[in-house]
Amino acid sequence: RGKRAFIAGVADDNGYGWAIAKSLAAAGAEILVGTWVPALNIFETSLRRGKFDESRMLPDGSLMEITKVYPLDAVYDCPEDVPEDVRTNKRYAGSTNWTVKEVAESVKQDFGTIDILVHSLANGPEVSKPVLETSRNGYLAAISASSYSFVSLVQNFIPIMNPGGSTISLTYIASERIIPGYGGGMSSAKAALESDTRVLAFEAGRKHNIRVNTISAGPLRSRAAKAIGFIDMMIDYSLQNAPLQKELTADEVGNAAAFLASPLASAITGSVVYVDNGLNAMGVGV
Ligand code: NAI
Repeated sequence: RGKRAFIAGVADDNGYGWAIAKSLAAAGAEILVGTWVPALNIFETSLRRGKFDESRMLPDGSLMEITKVYPLDAVYDCPEDVPEDVRTNKRYAGSTNWTVKEVAESVKQDFGTIDILVHSLANGPEVSKPVLETSRNGYLAAISASSYSFVSLVQNFIPIMNPGGSTISLTYIASERIIPGYGGGMSSAKAALESDTRVLAFEAGRKHNIRVNTISAGPLRSRAAKAIGFIDMMIDYSLQNAPLQKELTADEVGNAAAFLASPLASAITGSVVYVDNGLNAMGVGV
């Protein structure tokens, strides 16, 4: 039987989530995605109109099929958590059942179980502010959208995950080294995500035989990264200083995710796996 994957955080064809979906599809998995509610319309319209057809192309020449797109806002666990102004916001009012718990219930109803859960989402409203100037609300929002969202997805999807399954998130080296410009509590959020990867690996491994890993990815010109504002500089820095002097492609991260989700990685859990052309290993710039 082929595996089934749910990938949270796909809203265009530029980010890591899309590339992970493609690598998993190329390896034979069925693909379900969770798309941020305000981005749902444009994503589905673009998909339908063939705007992504070129980038849906798999190595064997076929096009990746996304079996179903679910609206998702990973900042809310259940309907009771959704504030009135969000519920009635016109970008949300057209969709239903998009809290984490409801999405897991919908996937269960539609498909029964999944094997692979991918978290490829982050948000930090004050990311461009240094931590010294970050508000409590901004910091907590970064943690909520970028760290607890993973905990919540794992909590809600584990009951429908087949034993032997695998979960993967995306992190960034700003969690452990100083990266000026990655502010607003986003560095703290990634540190929490990596710590939770270890603790959840223990809990989910013992209780459910599920593996939990995170990929520490190098810089990619995604929509989210462009919004931070220093992505071109980070790509140049990597080209200049990393052991492998080539631009990192999203596919390279996608392929690492497919490996981690596969039986080839059956003894790997609780790990932070660097997919960054080796930049993390450098001690000084050159
Ligand atoms: P992206 O823009 O393709 O993906 C981020 C996604 O998160 C978007 O689709 C956005 O709609 C979604 N999102 C934001 N808030 C959400 C919410 N509350 N509920 C549901 N979805 C929400 O950008 P990218 O860069 O591919 O990001 C994916 C992951 O990779 C993130 O965790 C990011 O921190 C991580 N990463 C990115 C790097 C880069 O240079 N682009 C480097 C290292 C890690």
